[in-house]
Amino acid sequence: MTAPAQASSLLNQLHRENALDVLRGLPDQMVDLFFTDPPYSSGGLHAGTRQQPPGAKYISGDTKTTYVGFGHDNKDQRSWTMWCMAWLGEAYRVAKDGANLVCFIDWRQLPSLTDAVQGAGFVWRSVAVWDKTPGRARPRMGGFSQQAEFMVWATKGAVKADIGVCLPGVFAERLPLPKRHMTEKPMELARAVVRLAPAGGVVCDPFAGSGTFLAAAKEAGHQWIGAELEPEYHEAAFQRLAAITAQ
Ligand SMILES: C[S@@+](CC[C@H](N)C(=O)[O-])C[C@H]1O[C@@H](n2cnc3c(N)ncnc32)[C@H](O)[C@@H]1O
Repeated sequence: MTAPAQASSLLNQLHRENALDVLRGLPDQMVDLFFTDPPYSSGGLHAGTRQQPPGAKYISGDTKTTYVGFGHDNKDQRSWTMWCMAWLGEAYRVAKDGANLVCFIDWRQLPSLTDAVQGAGFVWRSVAVWDKTPGRARPRMGGFSQQAEFMVWATKGAVKADIGVCLPGVFAERLPLPKRHMTEKPMELARAVVRLAPAGGVVCDPFAGSGTFLAAAKEAGHQWIGAELEPEYHEAAFQRLAAITAQ
């Protein structure tokens, strides 16, 4: 059992360490909201295409900006699902009873993620949509453009309806360019989702990237814990968080 003083020293820290190691170092029943966006290991239907670097998979050829890449995005379907089970299992242990999990994903990995979320012990509640808006999506001749990504919502046990928050199921948000991170998510959406944590609650993003979700949590006056392995993105998130004064 971690003493309260030790537990408070774990708060408001952005680790440059493997997410799984960071989660393993946290005590049981600490986090109110896991809000995260892991490497999808997506971008293709076969192992060979998935093993390409993120810049080749997630950035269209006519984009002029060069983004810093990131690792750990080359797993095949089975190993990605097993890896998700590992970090989600730790997240489940660290989550308080009634905690929320909101995890970004694309259409290809949605079935694997919802399997892993439930396998780790969470109750899958629904899927919300991030609509990137027309013009910010890859067109697909003869079919649908890939205009959306998804947020899998799950809870540890019963839903805490008493927080009095009711969120929309679709968020239409156009990301300003250039982005801070190759796979950045929108700040307004993040501001809405962190409302799922109670006032002053603990929000954890183990795959922080440029720190969008942690920045929204800090802005809202929540406590936060993050991890990001890539030095450039860790530094970007660190500076972004330092510039925010909690309200
Ligand atoms: C999809 S991006 C997150 C982007 C973020 N939502 C934003 O708005 O900037 C996933 C991030 O996880 C990081 N990452 C990948 N594997 C990791 C691991 N095992 N531990 C910690 N961070 C990891 C990558 O470097 C990458 O920046």
